[in-house]
Amino acid sequence: MKVKTSKITNLFPTPFGRVEFEGFDDIHRRIVEFVHECEAQGKIRDSRVDVTSNWGNGFQIPLLREKVPVIEEFTQHIYQSFEGFLRSIGLGEIDADITADAWIVVSRTGGYNAPHIHPHGTFSSIYYVSIPERPSPQGYLELVNPLGSAALQSFGSTNQLVEPKEGTLMFFPSHLMHGVHPFEGEGERISLNFDYTIVQKDTDGSNPLRGIQRG
Ligand SMILES: [Fe+2]
Repeated sequence: MKVKTSKITNLFPTPFGRVEFEGFDDIHRRIVEFVHECEAQGKIRDSRVDVTSNWGNGFQIPLLREKVPVIEEFTQHIYQSFEGFLRSIGLGEIDADITADAWIVVSRTGGYNAPHIHPHGTFSSIYYVSIPERPSPQGYLELVNPLGSAALQSFGSTNQLVEPKEGTLMFFPSHLMHGVHPFEGEGERISLNFDYTIVQKDTDGSNPLRGIQRG
């Protein structure tokens, strides 16, 4: 008797995409200006009132129905990267309708995001516009292994810390639980966040991003 075949399959992998941009200082500056304008005009979701993951000292700005030039301009870069992410995980040719929702998250000293998922998305992304430099884990993103305690039995880790850097865009499944550690001191932590909802169709097999729209 002998072994006929033997192979290992990773059954439940979690894709995590990371793209670094450069040369966007002016766009970052304009987004920060937009944040301050929205705050001055009260166009924010206050975490003390609304149900968000922000705690401590922070708020969100919904972009669902806004037509903001700098956001519209920058969103095209994010959509292109999302298209690349889908291709890299084998979903580049699926025939689907994709819609996107977007919002800005702002945190200041003591602010943090409790662990959460994005229940309305298929994939989510985070782009860092402004990040105060602090030692780990202040302001770091923490990803929770969706395999939970089983990860301990397969020599994996239960959590993954991600250092935030300005100009970094990340993609991950919306079911992946994540949170942000608080930071102390000066500065504001500003990120641009997207949820992409993918509804698969069964018609002509064209580029799924053809139907992308905000709102
Ligand atoms: Fe989130």
